[in-house]
Amino acid sequence: MKKTRMLKTALVTACFASGLAFAQSATDAIAKYREMIAEGNPSELYEAAGEEYWNAPGGPKKASLQACDLGLGPGVVKGAYAQLPRYFADTGRVQDLESRLMTCMETLQGISAKGIVDAAFGKGLKKDIEAVVAYVVTHSKDMPVKVPMSHAKEKEMYAIGKQAFYFQGGPMDFSCASCHAADQQRIRLQDLPNLTKNPGAAVGWGSWPAYRVSNGEFWTMQRRINDCFRQQRLPFPIYGSDLTVALSSYMAINANGGVLMTPGLKR
Ligand code: HEC
Repeated sequence: MKKTRMLKTALVTACFASGLAFAQSATDAIAKYREMIAEGNPSELYEAAGEEYWNAPGGPKKASLQACDLGLGPGVVKGAYAQLPRYFADTGRVQDLESRLMTCMETLQGISAKGIVDAAFGKGLKKDIEAVVAYVVTHSKDMPVKVPMSHAKEKEMYAIGKQAFYFQGGPMDFSCASCHAADQQRIRLQDLPNLTKNPGAAVGWGSWPAYRVSNGEFWTMQRRINDCFRQQRLPFPIYGSDLTVALSSYMAINANGGVLMTPGLKR
């Protein structure tokens, strides 16, 4: 048992170390590319679609999302994302932006949350919610992360998120921490921020949701987490489930005090 764990650690370390020189020049190239298109993050297209969705009557109830309460009062979008996830008294749950938007789409517009959960990323109802996410997070850009941890449920979600972050499983016995709890770690070309404390947590949390150049799509945090379950070789989690929200609570609270760069621009 101990031996296999040591072997895995050695393997992971070897993967990180190899290709460092190549990775450095490629990272420089990515940085340059980022600079080039910084003036025009393609997320703007999603943001525009999201703003339209937010304001237009839609769903079976033919209602807009204008009365949606993201935590700062009905209809307040500015700064809302900087304080999510948080506890909502009407649902009795801690919610991240996406699970909260599902609540609003269901209660205000009559859209089935199950339909949203079941849709594929980038398609159908998920595409709508992703656009609204782009719209909302843009209105917290450059603001400090200020996620509350005063309500008992918020404290509980942070603790569950921490446990989930360190939970080892899957064929490689990885946890999130295997890849994201050390400074200066890297896989292939990607820097892996230390999400357990700042500044890494602020970088990792604060630059998502993001437009991903590699596949030409806007990715929300739920999708980012989903893909890291794949990195961890675990089955995909349920969209908007408490487990995913808890992981976000853990990362976001660790990022408190950092600055949001949303929407980010990623490889
Ligand atoms: C086997 C390694 C591995 C594991 C395990 C892993 N990740 Fe990741 N993670 C990555 C890689 C690689 C990236 C960068 C992906 C890219 O840019 O294409 C990443 C990126 C991220 C980011 C965005 C960071 C940034 O600066 O852009 C977050 C947040 C994240 N992971 C969270 C998690 C969580 C939560 C878990 C556990 C459920 C997890 N990861 C498990 C490899 C891993």
